[in-house]
Amino acid sequence: MTRKKIAIIGAGPSGLAQLRAFQSAANNGEEIPEITCFEKQSDWGGLWNYTWRTGLDEHGEPVHCSMYRYLWSNGPKEGLEFADYSFEEHFGKQIASFPPRAVLFDYIEGRVKKADVRKWIRFNSPIRWVEYNEDAGNFTVTVHDQIKDSSYKEDFDHVICASGHFSTPNVPFYKGFDTFNGRVLHAHDFRDAREFAGKDVLILGASYSAEDIGSQCWKYGARSITTSYRSAPMGFDWPENWQEVPALECVDGNTATFRDGSQKQVDAIILCTGYKHFFNFLPDDLRLKTSNRLASADLYKGVVYAHNPKMFYLGMQDQWFTFNMFDAQAWWVRDAIMGKIQVPADAAALLADVAAREAREDASDDIKYAIKYQGDYVKELIGETDYPSFDVDGACQAFYQWKAHKGQDIMGFRNNSFRSVITGTMAPVHHTPWKDALDDSLEVYLQN
Ligand SMILES: Cc1cc2nc3c(=O)[nH]c(=O)nc-3n(C[C@H](O)[C@H](O)[C@H](O)COP(=O)(O)OP(=O)(O)OC[C@H]3O[C@@H](n4cnc5c(N)ncnc54)[C@H](O)[C@@H]3O)c2cc1C
Ligand SMILES: NC(=O)c1ccc[n+]([C@@H]2O[C@H](COP(=O)([O-])OP(=O)(O)OC[C@H]3O[C@@H](n4cnc5c(N)ncnc54)[C@H](OP(=O)(O)O)[C@@H]3O)[C@@H](O)[C@H]2O)c1
Repeated sequence: MTRKKIAIIGAGPSGLAQLRAFQSAANNGEEIPEITCFEKQSDWGGLWNYTWRTGLDEHGEPVHCSMYRYLWSNGPKEGLEFADYSFEEHFGKQIASFPPRAVLFDYIEGRVKKADVRKWIRFNSPIRWVEYNEDAGNFTVTVHDQIKDSSYKEDFDHVICASGHFSTPNVPFYKGFDTFNGRVLHAHDFRDAREFAGKDVLILGASYSAEDIGSQCWKYGARSITTSYRSAPMGFDWPENWQEVPALECVDGNTATFRDGSQKQVDAIILCTGYKHFFNFLPDDLRLKTSNRLASADLYKGVVYAHNPKMFYLGMQDQWFTFNMFDAQAWWVRDAIMGKIQVPADAAALLADVAAREAREDASDDIKYAIKYQGDYVKELIGETDYPSFDVDGACQAFYQWKAHKGQDIMGFRNNSFRSVITGTMAPVHHTPWKDALDDSLEVYLQN
């Protein structure tokens, strides 16, 4: 019998988890399918692969990266640690709990270098189109090889879409943007907070990007930060030059007017207004349409596309858990593809599972409930595979504590440390408080 052929779209943390999952089965002596991962960038790491570029890349493709200089993990690393590759294994010692981007990139890369899976990835290879062939029961994938500048088609038995969903910006328009005398940009194009030193910055949004980009601008010397919320304020105890105001009504020249009638003169506007699930390489019958939530629409077990169960998606949920959840999903998808897990054939059964997950998510809007909900999901999946079991409840506890630390000191929560749920070791307190740590290079961060 010929081996199944699997296409993975994207070599970010999710796609790399899938490569590592298959490699680990091969390591155990199992016969695995033929794996090809298509990555449009020239290197792996997804969003963690930083570029200074914005807009279009050197090939004219939309730049994928939404990260920026000086970005540190916004949650404790103890919540995302790989169960099969600890921070201590990678760095040879325990490190502090909120690593900057470069440190996390190094960690992600360490595991897949060790697994030797780079050979399965075709870089500079955006997927242009995927179609399902009813008769043959397989997929035809159209790829652009940017180095040769040529397109080709190839057939696969399964497609696993791991293209991420925090890259295509959601960009609202407000009256006066087109005549604003300053820069209006989306968080996706934000790269360096130093650009806003000495400026009065207006930020739209009340979620992680608003909080973190505002904090970056504050740390690197903005004169003032104004965050404008549409639904509810973040409500932290902000520094004295930071105010939270209701929704923006309009802008006139440099004057921003808010729903409560208050006004503020601002130099720049940063839209931290979220991202879209965007798959312009997928036809209607394969394209996931979901909002950014924990129980993603149309995904059985959060990964099997209910309208065509030969197609899988990884990492499409909103995320408390990240790397370890992608692992849980990737091990599960591997086993479904290898026939070790049975996926119901009946679409109604698949959709009933989705509906039950949505109802459970909707049962409460409490944050602890949401964290536990996703923790339980991770437990559910790893319970069905040979992914190394770990203390998921311990990771939930770390997230609860982290939330409490943010409430106590929004500019200081990254100065805390947590215990690894993989090795049991306590992380050291970082050598420099976050607000004073202006050099966040890997070398400096690791000087503990
Ligand atoms: C600003 C920001 C900060 C974040 N900070 C944290 C954090 O501190 N901690 C944390 O745990 N998580 C963080 N996240 C969450 C982040 O989503 C995950 O950490 C992780 O990057 C998701 O991995 P992924 O592989 O699913 O998606 P991505 O990282 O987005 O990777 C998707 C990959 O698919 C490729 N791709 C896309 N389209 C195509 C195509 N058509 N053909 C071929 N390849 C394609 C892309 O080039 C990319 O390499 C952050 C997200 C953002 C936006
Ligand atoms: N350092 C870090 O690690 C870091 C930094 C930044 C981001 N991230 C990650 O990036 C991901 C995305 O976070 P995000 O904050 O970009 O997106 P998000 O969580 O989806 O939040 C989007 C925000 O935009 C608001 N919004 C949407 N449309 C709007 C409009 N038309 N006008 C005004 N406000 C609008 C939303 O308000 P409503 O509530 O009213 O809908 C919400 O507050 C998260 O996983 C986060 O953890 C991490």
